[in-house]
Amino acid sequence: MKDFVFKMPTRVHFGVGAVRKLPEICKGLGGKKLFIITGPNVAKSSAMAAVREALGSAGTEYEVYAGSVPDPPIEAVDAVTRIFAESGANMIVALGGGSPIDLAKAAAMLSTNGGSVADYLFGGTKTVAKPSVPLIAIPTTAGTGSEVTAASVITDTKNRIKLSVTHDYVIPKAALIDPQLQADTPALVTASTGMDALTHAIESYVSLNANPISDAMGIYAMRMIGENLRIAVADGGNMEARANMAVASLIAGVAFMNGGLGVVHGIAQAMGGIHHTPHGIANGVMLPYAMKRNLPGNFKKFGDIARALGKDTGGLPARDAARLSVDAVAELRMDIKVPRSLGDIGIEEKDFQGIIDATMPFRLLALNPCKLAESDVEGILRQALRAPI
Ligand SMILES: [Fe+2]
Repeated sequence: MKDFVFKMPTRVHFGVGAVRKLPEICKGLGGKKLFIITGPNVAKSSAMAAVREALGSAGTEYEVYAGSVPDPPIEAVDAVTRIFAESGANMIVALGGGSPIDLAKAAAMLSTNGGSVADYLFGGTKTVAKPSVPLIAIPTTAGTGSEVTAASVITDTKNRIKLSVTHDYVIPKAALIDPQLQADTPALVTASTGMDALTHAIESYVSLNANPISDAMGIYAMRMIGENLRIAVADGGNMEARANMAVASLIAGVAFMNGGLGVVHGIAQAMGGIHHTPHGIANGVMLPYAMKRNLPGNFKKFGDIARALGKDTGGLPARDAARLSVDAVAELRMDIKVPRSLGDIGIEEKDFQGIIDATMPFRLLALNPCKLAESDVEGILRQALRAPI
C-alpha cells in the first residue's frame, strides 16, 4: 500500500429538519451577522423560507444576496466579495446547488486574501495564504459534494474556460444536510446532480490517487446512489431516498477530494466553459463512454463498481465483470432520463477540437486510470456522439 493523507475537516450536521439548528451552528462558530449567498430560484423556495424561519425565531441577524448564477464567473465573485464587506457580516452561509456554494467559497477566501479571484485561478499570480471567512454550506441538490470539498469552480467567461481555486482554506467549516430542503428539487436536476455524485464516486475509486479510505467511501456512495437515485427522481417527496442521496453525494465529495477525479470531469469542465452544459448533464452523458475506455486500466475495480451497482458478476472473467459496470451506469442513466448522447445536448463533431483542447490541461487527467492522448479523448467524444450505449 502506498503512503497517503486523508482529510475531511468539515463538520457535518445531518437530519430531516436540521435547518432549525442553523442559528446554533453559526453561533458555535462565532457568527454574529450572517451573509447568505443563494440564487434567485432558491431565494423563493421553501428551503429559503425554512432558513429565514430558523434564523428569525432565534433572532439571528442576516442579510441575503440572491444573485448567484449558474457557473459563477470571476466578476460575480469579485462583486459579491465587495457586497459582503459592506454588509458588516462576519460569516457566510451558502444555500443552493454547486454554483452558490462555489461562489461563496471563493468569496469567503477572497474576503481575507484580497485582490480579484482571477489572481488565484490556474495561471494566476497569487496563492491563498489566509484562512477564509467561516462558511457554512447548505446544499439543496445532492450531487456536487461542494459542501465538503476544497475546490471552488469559477468560470473565466472571456476565455470560455472553467478553472478552480483549490486550497484547504476553501473547505467549508460546516455542512448542514437537511433532505427536506431538497424536496422541491425538480426531477431532472435530481437526476443530473445524482449522476455528478455517481461520477465522483466512480472516478475517485478508479483514480491512480485512490487510497483505502477514499475507496471505502466511493464504493459505499455508489451503493447508496444505485439503490436510491431512481426513487429520488421518481418520487421527489420520498425523504428516505432524498436523505440517502444527500449523504451519498457528501461521501462521494470527500472521496474525490482525497482520491481525485479523471477524464469525465475534464471533459465536463471543458463543455461547461465552452457550451455552458450543466455539469451533471455533461457527466451523465460522458460517464459510460469514458468508463468503457478506462476498463483496461483496472478490471478489478470496475468489477467492484458493477457489483456495487447491483450486477451479479459471479463466475465471470474479470474483463466481463468489469464491462457490466458500464451497463449498470447506462441502465441507471436511462431509467432516470438523463441525456445519453452529445447529440441530445446539441454538441456536434465540429465542437470536438475545442473540447479536447480544454480537456487536455485538466490537472486531474493525470489520475485517470489509463493515460489518455488527444486521440483517446476524441474517441470517447465520438462514442458519445450518437449513444451506442
Ligand atoms: Fe462534479
